[in-house]
Amino acid sequence: MIYAQILGGGKGTRMGNVSMPKQFLTIGKKPIIIHTVEKFILNHDIDQIIISVPAKWLEYTKDILKKNLKDDRIQVIEGGADRNETIMKGIQHIEKTYGLTDDCIILTHDAVRPFITSRIIEENIEGALNSGAVDTVIPAIDTIVRGKNGVITDIPQRDEMFQGQTPQSFNIKKLVKHFNALTDDQKQLLTDACKICLLAGEEVKLVKGEYYNIKVTTPYDLKIANATLEGAEKI
Ligand code: CTP
Repeated sequence: MIYAQILGGGKGTRMGNVSMPKQFLTIGKKPIIIHTVEKFILNHDIDQIIISVPAKWLEYTKDILKKNLKDDRIQVIEGGADRNETIMKGIQHIEKTYGLTDDCIILTHDAVRPFITSRIIEENIEGALNSGAVDTVIPAIDTIVRGKNGVITDIPQRDEMFQGQTPQSFNIKKLVKHFNALTDDQKQLLTDACKICLLAGEEVKLVKGEYYNIKVTTPYDLKIANATLEGAEKI
């Protein structure tokens, strides 16, 4: 089975003083999370689409989905205290509801990356089915400088540097095995799901993202997202 999980369990604190978590803010005419889910609905290889949101936004999410979309594959569940916990709760839900076989994969995607494309989704599915772990990245444009205590410690070669996006996609059973092998301290420190696989010595394949597959994080990003949408509508 192929699952997609839309990660919308965060509070969006870097967006500043807004009335709701950023995934529910409107760009164009619809909430960001609706734009994101729409892209996944277009892919018919995906069997179920799990949407994770904070507990107190469950009913609101169901409501806006009902107003904007109709697709029997969609389910809304509660997210976790951090991003990885949100992913693990999604997987627990899948296991409880459908059971898990060795070939089950999950595409985990930030609810606040509404400009994901069909190609990125297709290549994540293919990569996760064939290799077990996939990260979506774009080549770094700027030189990446490593620093500590106010001084440079390294300037890595730019053509080996990438910026991470999502989806990050996994063979579910392998991801759970690697996650369960972590100590509680490691679980706290690891904010990136691909790093869980890396630490376990597993190869993580790269899929090419897009520069416009941005994560809406700050009020400035919201302006960029609106402008991107306006540009796309004019084409
Ligand atoms: N996320 C999640 N569950 C959490 C925390 C984050 O599903 N407990 C999701 C967010 O909803 C978002 C994505 O992970 O779609 C990327 O995280 P980020 O941009 O850091 O979102 P927030 O944690 O909401 O933002 P901030 O760090 O500004 O509070």
